[in-house]
Amino acid sequence: MEPRDVDSDLTRMLLTEEEIHAKMAELARDIEADYRDKNPLLVGVLRGAVMVMADLARELRIHVEMDWMAVSSYGKGTRSSGVVRILKDLDTDLQGRDVLIVEDIIDSGLTLSWLKANLESRGAASVEICTLLRKPEAAKVAVDVRYVGFEIPNEFVVGYGLDFAEKYRNLRGIGVLAPHVYE
Ligand code: PRP
Repeated sequence: MEPRDVDSDLTRMLLTEEEIHAKMAELARDIEADYRDKNPLLVGVLRGAVMVMADLARELRIHVEMDWMAVSSYGKGTRSSGVVRILKDLDTDLQGRDVLIVEDIIDSGLTLSWLKANLESRGAASVEICTLLRKPEAAKVAVDVRYVGFEIPNEFVVGYGLDFAEKYRNLRGIGVLAPHVYE
């Protein structure tokens, strides 16, 4: 889906597909340098990270493995508790593995701080995070993130895997959703 297909739903485009791809190439060069000969396991967090994983993995010029997890978003009332539930776990044994979590966005940081600790507790040799987007103003907990694509303002963004009510994930690029859509 192109930005013009949902033009009236967006206040503006934040990042074009070309800008995202250029950034993925940059991140991939850094990751290759750090993980050469390590056979890293890329862990994608469903569902938002599907596009990031697909593009990042193909951009990487080293061997990687991929696995997936699904975790529940904390409900509205429990948002600050950071309680996360595993809906689909990994199939891979993490003992001694170099794990790179691949995410679309870090907002409050609650999901990723929980997930990083969880994967570390399984005996991984290392657990690092790569996220396409980060909202510094929304941070509630500090998370050590090794690879960040873009820091963005605290606005409602959709596209390239990011949804509103499961829609817009297939939008090329990332746009700011107009308030009339969600209010
Ligand atoms: C998004 C994103 C992260 C999480 C980040 O997923 O993919 O997993 O929220 O938010 P946090 O930093 O405040 O914890 P979401 O729960 O929207 O599910 P989805 O990936 O299926 O869209």
